[in-house]
Amino acid sequence: MTNDTNRRDFLKASGLLTGGALLSSLPFGASAGGFHNSMDDTIKVALIGCGGRGKGAAQQALNTKQNVKIVALADAFRDRLDDAYKVLTSRELKDASGNPKVDVPDERKFVGFDGYKQAIALADVVILATPPGFRPMHFEEAVRQGKHVFMEKPVATDAPGVRRVLAAAEEAKKKKLNVVTGLQRRYQPSYREMVKRIQDGALGDIIGGQVYWVSGGVWQNPRKPGQTEMDYQMRNWYYFNWLCGDHITEQHVHNIDVANWVKNSYPVSCQGTGGRQVRTDKNYGEIFDHHIVDFVYADGTTINSQCRHYEGTYSRVDEMFLGTKGKVEGMEKKASALMAYNGTPIYSYNAKADGNPYQIEHDELFAAIAKGEYKFADAERTAKSTMTSIMGRMATYSGKVVKWEEALNSQIDLFPDRLAWDAMPKVLPNADGYYPIAVPGKTIAV
Ligand SMILES: NC(=O)c1ccc[n+]([C@@H]2O[C@H](COP(=O)([O-])OP(=O)(O)OC[C@H]3O[C@@H](n4cnc5c(N)ncnc54)[C@H](O)[C@@H]3O)[C@@H](O)[C@H]2O)c1
Repeated sequence: MTNDTNRRDFLKASGLLTGGALLSSLPFGASAGGFHNSMDDTIKVALIGCGGRGKGAAQQALNTKQNVKIVALADAFRDRLDDAYKVLTSRELKDASGNPKVDVPDERKFVGFDGYKQAIALADVVILATPPGFRPMHFEEAVRQGKHVFMEKPVATDAPGVRRVLAAAEEAKKKKLNVVTGLQRRYQPSYREMVKRIQDGALGDIIGGQVYWVSGGVWQNPRKPGQTEMDYQMRNWYYFNWLCGDHITEQHVHNIDVANWVKNSYPVSCQGTGGRQVRTDKNYGEIFDHHIVDFVYADGTTINSQCRHYEGTYSRVDEMFLGTKGKVEGMEKKASALMAYNGTPIYSYNAKADGNPYQIEHDELFAAIAKGEYKFADAERTAKSTMTSIMGRMATYSGKVVKWEEALNSQIDLFPDRLAWDAMPKVLPNADGYYPIAVPGKTIAV
């Protein structure tokens, strides 16, 4: 009997092969996603979005101690899927019975915009690693089908997308589906220990801080003759807000999330400035190359955020927080400390022996699933940190003060009306190939 037959028979025999409606009332181990039994310990994984991060996350899932099998791959593009399959099968990993751990025959490879549904159906756990614009619909579907989720940050690119993720997060909680998101600092031992101590008052009250993602830019794919606009934007997703959210959302959400974590809350308002200073060519779509934002929290304190993409300049990706008793910076470093203002360490952390946080997030997720434990509900906080970054973009694009409630309730929906290779995204180039760019003072905030 195959493992699949075993699993189905067990589900039928125990009366647990049931529709979604009943899942929320069943104990954790009985949900479609939570199912795990001694006859078959395989945890089946589907990867949706087979790019750089998807390949990495799939390998981290395979590296866990559990009997993980990749059973389905889905990608918008055939070449990206084929590349991931080649990379993932290059290690020739086998399970205890000698069967391949990457078991994805052609009928379980799904290409295009709709394949995610079929891929999700084949799995216990889904890895969502497409550009973030698709995350709300993919996450909704994974939760609807009762699957555990590892999904990359950010989890949306506009407020309607954030609201969809927040609603699906509630459903995931009801169904007791573990959801881990790729804000890996939350799984990095140095951050975990130091933020806990900060929250316990080691630095006194946090009254200010700076968060940074200042670096060079990322890749760009030149337009090809005959390429449809949808194909071009999908191949250059970084530069289009419906897919990426701008780099304040796509990258800087990491550091903004640390600010929210340290403050143990979300900003009530923000204002900022930004624009395109260096990266002005039409090849760079519609996003800005710098944003500076003041995020104001309910206690009246401000955290300043700075992100930019300028080649050949100073780089810094970290956070600094000021408390009434001392300060901290460089929590990602091998050695860092909470410091009193007179230079005396309040608490020092040595991270030399710490594991890789990208691996830890998968180790913890798969261990919980294997034990039938419900431990992770990251979607809500990641949706709110994603919203914080989108609120920052709303402020830099408009030049206005933006309040949390109005940002979260914004009806500005960036997603195309139709998904197809011949469909038109909402933002299009002019006759010279340049895309409209936000103009502070003219662009509507929310
Ligand atoms: N946590 C981290 O440190 C970290 C690092 C890198 C990337 N990421 C995140 O991972 C996500 C992916 O980034 P990446 O660098 O891997 O990008 P990528 O371009 O390398 O990969 C994205 C893949 O998704 C595919 N795709 C696009 N739309 C799709 C759809 N509708 N259905 C199925 N597949 C689709 C693309 O073809 C591509 O293969 C982003 O959200 C990014 O922010 C996180």
